[in-house]
Amino acid sequence: MRGLILAGGSGTRLRPFTHTGPKQLIPIANRPNILYCLEDLRNAGIADIGVILGDNQPERVRELLKDGRDFGVRITYIVQGPPKGIAHAIGCAEEFLKGDAFCVYLGDNLLKGGIRAMVEEFNGSDVDAGIALCRVPNPEMFGVAELDSSGHVKGLVEKPKTPKSDLALVGIYLLRDNIFPIIRELKPSWRNELEITDALEALRTKGGKILAHVVTGWWKDTGKPEDILEANRLILDELTTRIEGTVEDGAQVSGRVAIGRGTVVQKGAVIAGPVVIGEDCTIGPGTYIGPYTAIGDRSVLGPADIENSIVLSDAHIATRHKIVASLIGRHTRIDEDEHARPKGTRLVLGEHSRVRL
Ligand code: TTP
Repeated sequence: MRGLILAGGSGTRLRPFTHTGPKQLIPIANRPNILYCLEDLRNAGIADIGVILGDNQPERVRELLKDGRDFGVRITYIVQGPPKGIAHAIGCAEEFLKGDAFCVYLGDNLLKGGIRAMVEEFNGSDVDAGIALCRVPNPEMFGVAELDSSGHVKGLVEKPKTPKSDLALVGIYLLRDNIFPIIRELKPSWRNELEITDALEALRTKGGKILAHVVTGWWKDTGKPEDILEANRLILDELTTRIEGTVEDGAQVSGRVAIGRGTVVQKGAVIAGPVVIGEDCTIGPGTYIGPYTAIGDRSVLGPADIENSIVLSDAHIATRHKIVASLIGRHTRIDEDEHARPKGTRLVLGEHSRVRL
């Protein structure tokens, strides 16, 4: 079986982060989202992986994954360019995938527990497709499946106004190459994309059998900033303590905390896990880093008061204003000068930034 990770799309809902790279590279607990997908495929025994590249700085994906050797897989890059839909992206990979069964993994999805059980179930069957479903409180926001009493897929609809179930389609699809003629016949949807839901529904109405696997752990599609923070919390919930940096006497570190090489937590700093801090950071006196926070490499904090947030690399934070539920981009500087006049909040924000004061 081969794998296909989708790393295209425009990621408009994640601006300004997607101005500087594809959303699949946004770190969740200090690790790019796409690496969790890669790991799930590898752990399911899938080492031949195609990666779909879009038109938003695809070179950053190549720089991270290279030929895959560092991650124990073989990577083939396939250029989709502008986002014309998930089914379109799969169609672009026909040359790479034909003659084999394959697993499509959307590069901004995260699934607790991986995909091994689902892949094994599919490989031991003669079905035409395997889908993963997850119960959600807001099915109208997703592709939704309806199952019959024996658990077989009875219908699939993209973002239905009145959903027939609460079973959302997770961004992982097991397919065979009989999907390609179906994709070739698909018509673009109202949003001008070739939809995977339409391709699966066409496969089903032509008599294809679709196996549904209802996931029991959590699933997250990191399309919006609040999803990224939630995914960060879910991953940090499973963090194990690993201190590779230095915790000075007089610093307080409690709970599950990972501290990278070269990082110094100075006297007078307080860290309450779960927290992950990257490499070569300085956490200065008067800093509190609270639960569910991830701090990227080479960041300098102090004084600071932050929790439930993601700080990407090379940030400088020196303020006593409490920072909560925030996403802070690379090379961001937050400081304060209590003597500066006129008094007030001074902002230098990039395009599509969002601030809640
Ligand atoms: P979406 O989140 O549906 O689309 P998007 O990335 O364009 O985001 P936004 O709505 O915020 O603009 O895409 C789901 C996943 O599939 C994501 O990992 C991107 C990927 N994708 C492609 O690779 N090619 C495509 O043509 C599309 C639409 C998505």
